[in-house]
Amino acid sequence: MGTVQLVVFERFSSGKAFGDNVVPWARNFVTKFQPQPHTSQSPDFTRLKQVFSQLSASSKMSSELWQNVPLAPPDSIFKLTAAYKADTFDKKVNLGVGAYRDDNDKPWILPVVRKAEEIILNTPALDHEYLPITGLPEFTIAAAKLILGPDSSAIAEGRVTTVQTISGTGANHLGALFLSRFYQWSGDKKEVYLSDPTWANHPAIFNNVGIASLYYPYYDPKTIGLNFDGFVSSLKSAPSGSVFLIHACAHNPTGVDPTRDQWDAIAKIMLDKGHYGFFDCAYQGFASGDLDNDAWAVRFFVDKGVNMLICQSFAKNAGLYGERVGALHVVSPNKEAAERVKSQLSVLQRSEISNPPSYGARIRDISTMAGRIIDMRKELFKILTEELHTPGNWDHIVNQIGMFSFTGITPEQSKALTEKAHIYLTVNGRISMTGLNRNNIRYFATSLDAAVRGTL
Ligand SMILES: Cc1ncc(COP(=O)(O)O)c(C=O)c1O
Repeated sequence: MGTVQLVVFERFSSGKAFGDNVVPWARNFVTKFQPQPHTSQSPDFTRLKQVFSQLSASSKMSSELWQNVPLAPPDSIFKLTAAYKADTFDKKVNLGVGAYRDDNDKPWILPVVRKAEEIILNTPALDHEYLPITGLPEFTIAAAKLILGPDSSAIAEGRVTTVQTISGTGANHLGALFLSRFYQWSGDKKEVYLSDPTWANHPAIFNNVGIASLYYPYYDPKTIGLNFDGFVSSLKSAPSGSVFLIHACAHNPTGVDPTRDQWDAIAKIMLDKGHYGFFDCAYQGFASGDLDNDAWAVRFFVDKGVNMLICQSFAKNAGLYGERVGALHVVSPNKEAAERVKSQLSVLQRSEISNPPSYGARIRDISTMAGRIIDMRKELFKILTEELHTPGNWDHIVNQIGMFSFTGITPEQSKALTEKAHIYLTVNGRISMTGLNRNNIRYFATSLDAAVRGTL
């Protein structure tokens, strides 16, 4: 058989050539390359004809197999983006998709993410092995602390199960799937209360796992604000133990969040009625510019003891849209329950994605560290210069980059810090910025100030 025919045979017999586009191509091919020295009765050609006729039959079957599949409408947001991209008008503006753009309308990569990428590229030990089923441990721990707070008692007590997910959408899906399987639903009905309006994907995600959507009033067009009374009356009238999906901050699509007093009232009713809080947090940092501030409601509900889970996305606040990095945190009443929850989340995750992707999680993890170092530099500089007016010039604290900082203090001052203030640093005055955090930075700054003044 000629080489060309062999290729055709291989493609057909391996099943790679199925489909409407290929069959006309094969038809032409058979006509064109009909072997001249042989008759059309030759064994090669007869076999080719047999394969071709089988293919025609299966192609007909496959076109009929899906005739009952209705054409779904395109996703409205992504349709807008496609229309925007196709538009050639020079002053075009895209206000549809929630993805940050710079002043030139270009996607923006956070400098800290760039730095993290460099570190990953230059660290050969970061291989392409599978991650554990529940994700990169360094990432899941950091993600939990970011949303629940570094001093979260729920984390300290081992009551939080965190699983790395395919961004916020994956967290919503895994959370919904987990509830669908394991929540103590009253009766046969599985229902979730969504805010009216909500992110368009919410009802679809719950529908996929057999949970029907009901809506609670949220937005009041008259006040362009929160319909607090409507929200509260839904919470009160819903059967005990209902599941309420709550946007943790920067509500999508209204941009309207409850005040702290209103959150307090909502938490009280949820506790009274034994409702379950399905918190979706896709915009931590976007409401107030402060990650802790935006996590206030989540932390408050956890402290109050509301049964809840949290879906966390790093698409927006880290600009990692396409890397699909997020987490699901389920807060349980005790450590033993958290372990059982983890075992079942692992089973679900295994059957859906096996293991989450590593790249985005690594970037996020390294970025978190780098981001905190930058914050600590700024904070230390501010305390020394603006509050304590420590003698000397401290510009280097903010101008230096990376993990370490040379404070510029003398060996005697370094020793005094260690011996009298229990602050451990090398005698040359070098400090590792990673050792500083919001809780100890003031102590360090005041001790450093005293060491420099010789009053320690
Ligand atoms: C409320 C809400 N939840 C979750 C998501 C999930 O986003 P991603 O899957 O990109 O993290 C979004 C994104 O627009 C959102 O607005």
